[in-house]
Amino acid sequence: MGTEKQSGQKTAGASQIAPATGKLGVMVVGLGAVATTLIAGVEAVRKGIAKPIGSLTQMGHIRLGKRTDNKSPLIKDFVPLADLNDVVFTGWDIFKDNVYQSASHAKVLDKDLVEQLKPYLQTIKPLPAVFDQYYVKRLTGTNVKTGKNKRDLAEQIRADIRAFKKTVDRVVVLWAASTEIYIEKTAVHASIEAFEKGMENNDIAIAPSQLYAYAAMKEGVPFANGAPNLTVDFPAMVELSKLNAAPVCGRDFKTGQTFMKTVIAPALKARLLGVRGWFSTNILGNRDGEVLDDPQSFKTKEESKLGSLDYIFQPELYPDLYKDLYHKIRINYYPPRGDDKEAWDNIDIFGWLGYPMQIKINFLCRDSILAAPVALDLVLFMDLAKRTPGLRSIGVQEWLSFYLKSPQTAEGLYPEHDLFIQSMKLKNTLRHIKGEDLITHLGLEYYD
Ligand SMILES: NC(=O)c1ccc[n+]([C@@H]2O[C@H](COP(=O)([O-])OP(=O)(O)OC[C@H]3O[C@@H](n4cnc5c(N)ncnc54)[C@H](O)[C@@H]3O)[C@@H](O)[C@H]2O)c1
Repeated sequence: MGTEKQSGQKTAGASQIAPATGKLGVMVVGLGAVATTLIAGVEAVRKGIAKPIGSLTQMGHIRLGKRTDNKSPLIKDFVPLADLNDVVFTGWDIFKDNVYQSASHAKVLDKDLVEQLKPYLQTIKPLPAVFDQYYVKRLTGTNVKTGKNKRDLAEQIRADIRAFKKTVDRVVVLWAASTEIYIEKTAVHASIEAFEKGMENNDIAIAPSQLYAYAAMKEGVPFANGAPNLTVDFPAMVELSKLNAAPVCGRDFKTGQTFMKTVIAPALKARLLGVRGWFSTNILGNRDGEVLDDPQSFKTKEESKLGSLDYIFQPELYPDLYKDLYHKIRINYYPPRGDDKEAWDNIDIFGWLGYPMQIKINFLCRDSILAAPVALDLVLFMDLAKRTPGLRSIGVQEWLSFYLKSPQTAEGLYPEHDLFIQSMKLKNTLRHIKGEDLITHLGLEYYD
């Protein structure tokens, strides 16, 4: 008789995961809307002013054993995660504004809340950034490092990480900086040696984000990429990640429209409903929207947003349903809305005998309010990965696909975009590292 639990898949278990004792240092590249909403949010939660809504690590439960066991602890009680009181933030930005000033500028959070948190927020001042306007056309920075070449700049970032490491027990780096222009992988990304040579030659295919990632990898520090730029998903970085036990995990926070897309598309596919077209448009008025107004940065975002549907619908297996699907994505910079993004989706579907139907989705969201808990979970889970023997040296943490528009996988594997497959993958990974039975949802044992 089959069991809902999958036996024989136990691992060495919890005893080997190092405890989350001491301080976790979080170094955020880019102290803009997302970063300041994350930092202010964590402080508000620490002070008991607000709840960490949207965060799996803070509010999520995980079922263990059979449904009849009634055992569903909080995830944070099940795996050893850093406590929010032990999280210490710092970061880099091309502007000198401290986190209080930057949060005030971003206007995501109510003025009252930002004022209440001011004493803490103003203590976090950005380190000078590595920046080059060639890669983000719409910004000009003043708080910027200079160096003799890209390798020298990467070494300066390494020095920042090492200095911060002296004040905390563990470090994670999070990219929450602007979207860089679209860059294709080249020979310079093929090996560590080529990449290091490329930095010395100021190779144009090496963007600042890659220098931060290289520095983190060299220091054995996990690196999470919240933006769609090419940063950690190429052979040189994966090699370094494995070599130095510094986890990486794909790119681009999955928050608004793509989050919805990877919920709706699997439902249509599960019911074998066809899709002729999917038109997605957005208006957005924050600095991210302004950066994405540049065609080269938009192209990076577009590529990241386009990927999901093809993988979910598998047109090669279902040509009658999805072969001719027309997928279009627009992002329009519209300042009056600030961080309050509005997204529309029009989906032209067809059912039994080919009869057409339509679905309209209008998501009035808040970009950074959706992104902050995703960023928090990524940071805490990457730190967990670093402390877990079975995870820290595998390089790519595919189990964190749940949070990303462009999940990263082992070479030759297609990524899973379906949010519910991703959620199962994440929870089963947690069960696996704790030596618990995996859950397959078969459930025949209840009918023995
Ligand atoms: N908010 C969301 O829902 C969401 C979802 C997916 C991805 N993202 C991505 O997250 C990133 C941050 O978004 P945001 O709304 O906070 O943008 P933002 O413009 O408010 O903040 C980005 C910050 O990065 C800084 N910056 C740019 N280049 C830098 C560099 N090389 N080094 C250090 N700092 C640098 C900018 O000065 C700015 O302060 C963007 O790339 C965005 O596309 C956001």
